[in-house]
Amino acid sequence: MRASFETIAWTPGGTVRLLDQTRLPLEEIYVECRDWPEVAEAIRLMRVRGAPAIGVAGGMGMALAARGLAADRFEPFLSELEQVGAALVRARPTAVNLRWGIERILEFARKRRDLPLPELRRAIADEARRMRDEDIAVNRAMGAHGQALVPDRATILTHCNAGALATAGYGTALGVIRAAVEAGKRVSVLAGETRPWLQGARLTAWELQRDGIPVRVIADAMAASLMRQGRVQLVVVGADRIAANGDVANKIGTYAVALLARAHGIPFYVAAPASTFDLRLASGAAIPIEERDPEEVTHIAGVRVCPPGVGALNPVFDVTPAEHVTAIITERGILRPPYPEAIRARIPVEG
Ligand code: MRU
Repeated sequence: MRASFETIAWTPGGTVRLLDQTRLPLEEIYVECRDWPEVAEAIRLMRVRGAPAIGVAGGMGMALAARGLAADRFEPFLSELEQVGAALVRARPTAVNLRWGIERILEFARKRRDLPLPELRRAIADEARRMRDEDIAVNRAMGAHGQALVPDRATILTHCNAGALATAGYGTALGVIRAAVEAGKRVSVLAGETRPWLQGARLTAWELQRDGIPVRVIADAMAASLMRQGRVQLVVVGADRIAANGDVANKIGTYAVALLARAHGIPFYVAAPASTFDLRLASGAAIPIEERDPEEVTHIAGVRVCPPGVGALNPVFDVTPAEHVTAIITERGILRPPYPEAIRARIPVEG
C-alpha cells in the first residue's frame, strides 16, 4: 500500500515540504519551509503534527539551519546549531520525538567534526532525509508485529491520528491496521473524532478513506456505549512519549478510552517506535503536557460554540498509566507487562 500523499519531504531544491494539516480534509495544500524558523512555526501551528512527523520535521529544520549558518569553523558552527536546537525543541513540548530528531542531528554533527563544513552541511541534509526513510521502515516493522494481534473481521477503535499523516508515512497505530488489511483481514475502523482539534474526524477518516479502509467517525462520547454493546474488538492508539515504567502520553481522551477498554475487557494497544520512549523519565507524572489556546475548545472551525466570555481549559495530551495498556507494539517486537523490564530489554537508552 503506497500513500498517495507525502506528509513531509525534503525537496530537490533543498526546502522542507509539508502537507498542511490545518487545511485537511477540505483542502490538500502543501507548504514549503525555507529556513528553520518556518519549520518551528509549522510545528507550533500544527501544519505538521504527530510525534514521529515532528521528529523528522525537527531533523529537517536542523538541516536547514546547518545550511544557513555563517560559521566557518566547527566549534562556532556546532554551538550555533545547538542554539537552534534549543529554540526548535520549544515548538511543542509533549512529543519526545522532536527532541530525539534534533539530538540525532547534533550527535551526527559532533561525530563528524573533522569533515570540512560544506561537506558536513551536505551530510546533515542526507541524515535528515535518512530519518524520514527510516521512519517509514520502522512503521512497517511495527505493522508487521502488530497485525498479528488483530483478529479477522475486528472493529478497531482508534483515537486521534496516528497514521501516515502523523509520521513520515504508513503510520504507527494506523500502520498496524494497514498491515492487518495487507494480511487479508477484513477490519473496520471507528475513528474517535478527537475534540478539540478533530484529528480523528478530519485526518484519520481522510487517510483511511483514501486507502479504501472502511472507517466511520464517532463522537468521543460514544465509545463507552459501543463497547458495552460488543461493537469494538480492540483499541489501538499511538503515543507522544512513553516513560521508563510504560506510562503513555497521547492525545487528550486516550486515558478515558483506556479505562473504558479495561472496564469492558477489550485489549488496549499502543503502537510507538523506540524514538517515542523517554527513558530519562521514571513515570508519566514527569511528562510535560502541552496547553494550547482555549479557542480550540470554545470554537469549532473558527465558529464560536460557547457563550461569549466563557473560558475553557485545553490540555491537549493525557497520560494513561501502564497498568491499563495491554501491550506496546514497537519495531522491536511486542512489549508486555511488566513494562519496566520489557522496555529495558528492548529499547536502547538513547531511544
Ligand atoms: O497534537 P497532535 O495531533 O500532534 O497529537 C498527536 C497524537 O497524540 C498522536 O496520537 C501521537 O503523536 C502518535 S502519532 C503516530
